[in-house]
Amino acid sequence: MKAPLIFPSLLSADFGRLAEEINTLENLGVEGLHCDIMDGVFVPNISFGLPVLEAIRRYSTKPLDVHLMIQHPERYIEAFARAGADILTFHWEATPHADRLVQQIRIFGKKVGIALNPATPVEVLREILPELDLVCLMGVNPGFGGQTFIPYVAHKLQRLVELRSFLGAHTFIEVDGGISQDTAPLVASADIWVVGSSLLNAPERSAVLQSLRKAHLPTT
Ligand code: DX5
Ligand code: ZN
Repeated sequence: MKAPLIFPSLLSADFGRLAEEINTLENLGVEGLHCDIMDGVFVPNISFGLPVLEAIRRYSTKPLDVHLMIQHPERYIEAFARAGADILTFHWEATPHADRLVQQIRIFGKKVGIALNPATPVEVLREILPELDLVCLMGVNPGFGGQTFIPYVAHKLQRLVELRSFLGAHTFIEVDGGISQDTAPLVASADIWVVGSSLLNAPERSAVLQSLRKAHLPTT
């Protein structure tokens, strides 16, 4: 089984030293950076928006994976595309017009993702999955870093892997929220792990990263 790519969530970074934080993470060899955009409406928290994303773009050389936890995502696709997103992921629960959003994101030449809240079944993606570059399965209810992984998301992941292979799709599967050295083995078949607090708040980030890199391997 291939090791999942690791995209740290900058939500747990020190925003007063963002450029340094980006540099440290990139030097540790992470494959991309996950940027959590929260509007205080779709989720009960407000994070950061366009000017901060533009700054991240200036300081980062990695793919920017922009997770839009916002209501009416269609209003902001162009702005986030221009601010430097490489992947634009919106929530299934935030729009009745997923297909229109996918087309809108494609106009700007960006990769398209759809995120599912923990209680949203993967089967809702049956028709649209082949059109997507990425599906983000939330391991927690979106809104905050540092929450506990919801175990049933591991079963959703298996069902999504099966659905993808049944449809012959090549969509990347990302799991976001609650991933640590302990929970990572439960989601070993994902392609991307978004890791926030367990990596960024650790005193020894390189040690955590090293153990995450091995967490997909069988233990026996
Ligand atoms: C949650 C965000 C996640 C979060 C992950 O709403 O979408 O990206 O920052 O943080 P941890 O890894 O601490 O759960
Ligand atoms: Zn996220």
